[in-house]
Parts: sequence; C-alpha cells; structure tokens
Amino acid sequence: MIFEQVATGGCQSYLVGCAETCAAALIDPQISQIDRYLGLAARHGLHVRYVIDTHTHADHFSATRELARRLSAPSVMHRQSPAPFLDMRVDDGEMIAVGGLRLRVLYTPGHTSDSMCLLVEDRVFSGDTLLIGATGRTDLPSGDPEALYESLFHRILRLDPLLKVFPAHEYQGRSHSTIERELAENPRLQRRDRAAFVDMMCNLNLTMPTHITEALRTNISGGKIIAQLLAEAASRVPLMSLTELKAHVEAAENDLIVLDVREREAFESGHIPAAQLLPRGQLELRVNDDLPDPTRRILVYCEFGRISMLAAATLREIGFQRAVALDGGMKAWREAGYPIET
Ligand SMILES: [Fe+2]
Repeated sequence: MIFEQVATGGCQSYLVGCAETCAAALIDPQISQIDRYLGLAARHGLHVRYVIDTHTHADHFSATRELARRLSAPSVMHRQSPAPFLDMRVDDGEMIAVGGLRLRVLYTPGHTSDSMCLLVEDRVFSGDTLLIGATGRTDLPSGDPEALYESLFHRILRLDPLLKVFPAHEYQGRSHSTIERELAENPRLQRRDRAAFVDMMCNLNLTMPTHITEALRTNISGGKIIAQLLAEAASRVPLMSLTELKAHVEAAENDLIVLDVREREAFESGHIPAAQLLPRGQLELRVNDDLPDPTRRILVYCEFGRISMLAAATLREIGFQRAVALDGGMKAWREAGYPIET
C-alpha cells in the first residue's frame, strides 16, 4: 500500500494507493491543498480513482467536488450525506475497490449523521468519530452523542486493538494512534457508561469553528467558497502595480481608463486622479453607456484589491480583453502617498 498523510493545520487528509495497480483514493481532501494532492499522486505514479469525505465537514472546505471534477473520479460519501452532487453513496459494510485494496465502510454516526470510518489492511481512517485523545464533537448540525456512544463503544473500539487509527483531525502533530492505545489513554473513552458519556459530550462547551457557515454551505451544496471565486478571477486577470499606474497617471496620456468600482461616497472622498466611477453593483447595467470602446485598456481598482479582481474578470468575460486589476487598492495607493483627487 502506498500511503501519504497531508496535515493542514489540524486537518488530516490521506492518499491511499494500490502498489500493484497504481489506483488510489483521496480521503478528506481540502481546497487549499489541491495542488499538493495532485503532486503527491504524480510523484507516486498514482491515478486517483475515488475522492472520499468521511463526513460533512463544518470546519474546513472540502475539495472533494472540485477534485472529482478535475480527475473525472467519483465523489464518494455515506448515503446519509446531504450533498446533492455526489457520484457514489455508500453504506455500512460495503467496500470501495481501489485496485487491489478494499476500503471497507463502517457507518459511525454521532459526530454527524453521515459519518463513516474506512478500514483498509492494518488501519482505520476514523474521520471525526475517533480522534487521538479525543472524539469528534456532537454539538454541530446532525451531531448526536447517543449515536456517537454506539459508534465508538459498539463499533470502532471493538475492532482489532492493534489497528492503526488515522483521524481527520490531529492538532498536536501525532500521525496516528491505535485502538488499544485510545482505549487505555483517551480521556473521553474512560466514561464507558452511556449516560455519563452523553452527559460529558453535552457539556464540553466548545467554541464554534471559524468559517462554519461558509464550510457547511459549500460542503453541503458543492458551491464555491469566496476565496475560490477570487482565485478563479485572479487566474484570468493580469495585474498592474501601483508604481506602473502612477507613471501612467503622471504621463496623462489618456492611454488608460482608470475605473473606480467602489461606491460613490468612497469615490468622492478621494480617488486616483482622472479615475472614472462605475460601482461594481452597477457594472453590468451601465457598462454599455460608460465604456463604449471595448478596445481600450482599462485599469480597475477598489479599496483593497479584491472586488476589483472580480470586476476586471467580469469585464474580460463580456469582451473587454484589456481589462486589468490594480495590485493593491485605494488603501495601498493612499498609504504610498500617491496623488489623490477629491
Ligand atoms: Fe468534522
């Protein structure tokens, strides 16, 4: 078995490959590491055949849908998953064939209602059901402490004690544990009485994960995160530096339309000399009147340099092939002490 573990902050993803056939599966990939997974698969000569999430993640952005699309591989989750875009839904006891490897599905609800663990050879990918020295929390949507008790004490912890445990989260840099070690040392597993366990889980008082609304929205729907939208726009739009723009402004040769896409109030309180106002919210409505010549070079800017990227990408999409975005925004221009018109 070819095996790679990718840690991102506390999140763990896994690449599991069959050495004989070069087929592989990616487990719990996240959006910020897409290039790394593809690089690792290429380095090992692996063809990723499945992209799998062990459950609906609430704390990070899953790359499952994006990778499945790019790799023409099925996206896989438990059949209880709310995601409408899945290609393959699996159930307890079923196996996913990765070349000669068999990933066996163990349905383990509790952290979420769609949580599953995956068993292959000497290891179990335990998702957020069993963590090293902890368990998944049960206070997020579809969490259920009673179900987690069942999944832990009547399923996972009854597996071979020597099985290696690879969780979806680990915050202290440990790569894995074993069932035996968790039974002996995991503080949350020392309350083996159901009521005491449930009571403990209901009183953990954990803080909510950052980005929880965006993570649940995008992971459940397959929609894009804002950073993805910006990155996609940035991949289609060249940038112009502050100093380059300043040279154009000072030369006053009228070879460049400088377009301010902030709101009128911000524009009037100070803008780049000779800039023209066209708020982003009115771009599509006013573009035909305000920008009649699509062959002109257009420099778009906003306050921080993000909205201008989206506006410039829209302009390129509708035919302004020379639209570029300012690298930075009005804030950076102001801080550089460059000329401002009011
Ligand atoms: Fe989770």
